[in-house]
Amino acid sequence: MRGGIEGNTAGEKMNNLMNCYAKEITLEYGKGCNVFDSSGKKYLDLIGGIATCSVGHGNAEIVKTVASQASKIINPSNYFHSEHEVKLAEKLASLSGLEKVFFCNSGTEAVEGAIKLAKKHTGKQKIIAMKNGFHGRTLGALSATWNPKYKEKFKPLVPGFEHVEFGNANALAEKIGKETAAVLLEPIQGEAGIIVPPKGYLKQVEKICKENEALLVLDEIQSGNGRTGKFFCFQHESVKPNIVAIAKGIANGLPMGAVISGNGIDFEKGDHGSTFGGNSVCCAVALKTIEIIEELMPGVGKKGELFVAELEKIGKIKEVRGKGLMLAAKIEGDANSVAKECAKKGALVNPMHGNLLRFLPPLSIGGKEILQGTKIIKGILEND
Ligand SMILES: Cc1ncc(COP(=O)(O)O)c(C=O)c1O
Repeated sequence: MRGGIEGNTAGEKMNNLMNCYAKEITLEYGKGCNVFDSSGKKYLDLIGGIATCSVGHGNAEIVKTVASQASKIINPSNYFHSEHEVKLAEKLASLSGLEKVFFCNSGTEAVEGAIKLAKKHTGKQKIIAMKNGFHGRTLGALSATWNPKYKEKFKPLVPGFEHVEFGNANALAEKIGKETAAVLLEPIQGEAGIIVPPKGYLKQVEKICKENEALLVLDEIQSGNGRTGKFFCFQHESVKPNIVAIAKGIANGLPMGAVISGNGIDFEKGDHGSTFGGNSVCCAVALKTIEIIEELMPGVGKKGELFVAELEKIGKIKEVRGKGLMLAAKIEGDANSVAKECAKKGALVNPMHGNLLRFLPPLSIGGKEILQGTKIIKGILEND
């Protein structure tokens, strides 16, 4: 479903990695929106480390921050305070309009933390998530994830999760009740193939949650960090979630996740923890990444519009969807083979669900690069 891309043969040799991914190209380094493979071949990176590389590869300020913080202290551990962790929590609270932050190391952990926090705060068990939603692979997050294909082999999962149709407020209103602890959803579904709900949907979900005393928990792991042109995607609809999970692009590719909460929703000592969570290198880099994201964010909407306009000119593209630089194009033909051809011609795109190409480039991508990438895609689709 989340296919890799074939290119050079370095990855085809037997190695000792578990068989979780379809990898072919061996990437060695990157600069800005370009990455280079082991033969020195250059690719325009329209995947951006699956939305982790927010501000570009080899960004000089990020590199400097990693080096300077690593030379001071890497992980003082959560037995101690550290300056960057406190500052980053303050920044995320102010960006989100919420109050409290817990740091972890990935998206799935952020969702685990959010689920535990919702259960602890409400004292209730039931969580409503969305059909086609994706929240990660650890057992709690996997229970919230919808796709049965990812879950079947790992049952029994965590009980208490139900799924309703995404984008349909009535479906949620029918399922929710006073026994519901939380409603968990992505503002735009990423792994489902960039599914944007109808305008006003999040606002309706917020209202339904309030009426039922259920928490609104947003998974902004893919849609957050400026990707859609606002720091959090929920800010397009001015809703106020109770809990938000972020990860991916927050530290430009360093492993970091966070659970952000408001309204006095908090853990008590001993409820939750993470050995690496809030380590000084990731926090310092996240602070620097956010600073650069804030400079890039005003341009994201326009870049997205250019990207969409260029994709829509391509005959064999049936539909383009998404917001800002979180985009997908539905194509006529096989997305895997198109992605392979794109790689041969020097652009990395993510094939999904058989007929979708997903684009999550660094927010620093330039107009010229968008034209370069869409030209490659056009050449492949129209000469097919
Ligand atoms: C919306 C969403 N939630 C959770 C996750 C899981 O994040 P991670 O792979 O960092 O555990 C992902 C990853 O694709 C995601 O897109």
